[in-house]
Amino acid sequence: MRIGIVYYSRSGNTREIAEILCRKLRERNADAEMIEIKTAKKVGFLQAFLVSIQYRNVPLENIDYDLSKYDVVVVGTPIWIGRPSPIVETFMKNTEGLGLHGRRVFVFATCSRNPDAQGGGVELIKNVLKKHDAIVNDVFLVLKMRKREIIKRNMEIDDFIENIISA
Ligand SMILES: Cc1cc2nc3c(=O)[nH]c(=O)nc-3n(C[C@H](O)[C@H](O)[C@H](O)COP(=O)(O)O)c2cc1C
Repeated sequence: MRIGIVYYSRSGNTREIAEILCRKLRERNADAEMIEIKTAKKVGFLQAFLVSIQYRNVPLENIDYDLSKYDVVVVGTPIWIGRPSPIVETFMKNTEGLGLHGRRVFVFATCSRNPDAQGGGVELIKNVLKKHDAIVNDVFLVLKMRKREIIKRNMEIDDFIENIISA
């Protein structure tokens, strides 16, 4: 099973989880790889905050984002002001040829507050994915993180993995 984990991470938390997922999926014999959404310039906290409230586009590095080669796509985003990072949301909205049509997709998010209260934010990215005709799984993983350490999560990571493997 070929699995693409596409994510954006400004300060490393979401990348940390993408790495854990990738490792655990490989342990289950899945052909998993990570695809990082990279901004052309590093985004500082203030810019992240402004981008969130003004919902501005951020120029991205021009890399191959064709996701059609994967059987399953996992999308990871930080939560910014109660929403998925606009960098992921606008990327998903605006990128032509993402190849998500008919793809089975899972979503995970990292945040600094209560992971059980982020369902609304996660729904927003799910809706964007559904517009690409992706088949978005109801199960989603949210983790409260501090400096790349998991403080709390809404479900066990292994259960999330199990859902992906059996998709
Ligand atoms: C501009 C901005 C807004 C944020 N807003 C929220 C928020 O509304 N709720 C929350 O729980 N965490 C919020 N956070 C914290 C991040 O979601 C959290 O630190 C996340 O794990 C960062 O992921 P990253 O290290 O992959 O960039 C915010 C962070 C930034 C930079």
